[in-house]
Amino acid sequence: MKIDIHKLVRKNIQNLAPYSSARDEYSGKSGVFLDANENPYGSNNRYPDPQQSALKKRLAELKNISADSIFIGNGSDEVIDLAFRIFCEPNQDKALTFSPTYGMYEVSAKINAVELIKLPLEEDFQINTGVMKPYLEDKFLKLIFICSPNNPTGNLLRTGDIEFILDRFNGVVMIDEAYIDFCSQASFIERLNKYPNLIVIQTLSKAWGLAGLRVGTAYMNTKMLSYFDRVKAPYNISALNQETALQALKKEADHKKQITEILNEKEILRHKLMHLKCIRKVYPSDANFLLVEVEDADRLYHKLIEKKIIIRNRSLVIKNGVRISVGTPQENQQLINALKEITND
Ligand SMILES: Cc1ncc(COP(=O)(O)O)c(C=O)c1O
Repeated sequence: MKIDIHKLVRKNIQNLAPYSSARDEYSGKSGVFLDANENPYGSNNRYPDPQQSALKKRLAELKNISADSIFIGNGSDEVIDLAFRIFCEPNQDKALTFSPTYGMYEVSAKINAVELIKLPLEEDFQINTGVMKPYLEDKFLKLIFICSPNNPTGNLLRTGDIEFILDRFNGVVMIDEAYIDFCSQASFIERLNKYPNLIVIQTLSKAWGLAGLRVGTAYMNTKMLSYFDRVKAPYNISALNQETALQALKKEADHKKQITEILNEKEILRHKLMHLKCIRKVYPSDANFLLVEVEDADRLYHKLIEKKIIIRNRSLVIKNGVRISVGTPQENQQLINALKEITND
């Protein structure tokens, strides 16, 4: 399938001359800087690297990909929003996702006046490709969001079903791999060469433990990336965040150790939850959280809040469903104790 990326982009973006910042025009590190109306005093007085080159260099090593295929956003939420702005004409184009899933696809669609088609996942939380196939023919459908492992269901989507879409769709496919480091499945980054219309989103907010920084990453071919660079705010990642993220990314061993601990703890938590009377079902999870069906989600949620334990009530999207992030062993035990007290187990 031959896809012309340029034609997928909104006309006004195709021809957009981006803002050229002072640090784009001169990127050298030393010199007398009188070009950006900065204050010459202080320690954070200089604008950050608009291209986040050092951070991309490190990510390129970790992901085994060329640095010019990496985009860094102010959280992956920025990448999601940029995709709507780059590819979808407001009040005309459409996007599609599979529900229940991460809520920002819908919020971003609404902000950008784009209709989001939500196809329900099957009972096992997998895609029904037969139901989806006709939608791929819609010429106004520009973007498909696939979240795998999916939030809030916790499961990986079948690779074959994702490939089914990639093999047939002429628009842009965004695979959100926010939780990929918590499972052993290989990232779709490996398939970027095969599919020029593929964007893989990841984040430092989850397995890297840096949610406070707001650093999201996206991997795509360089042509596609040039449009993201055009549309992003010039200095979208602060100097402090670039530096803190870079230091964290150097500590790969710590990161791996934390993942192992979280995954071990997830199984302990699963086991303890399954033995409580108020728990009906603990779903399989390829992420760092558990989707749990309880007797009465609303009641349980509020009772836990009274005890200052906060979980996510997802009962609006999954009947009596709550989502529980895996915490430290102490935090998880506090949850179990609280659940026992609430239900007199
Ligand atoms: C699937 C998914 N994608 C993206 C995000 C947001 O990531 P970030 O913190 O990088 O904006 C989340 C956060 O919960 C998520 O669950």
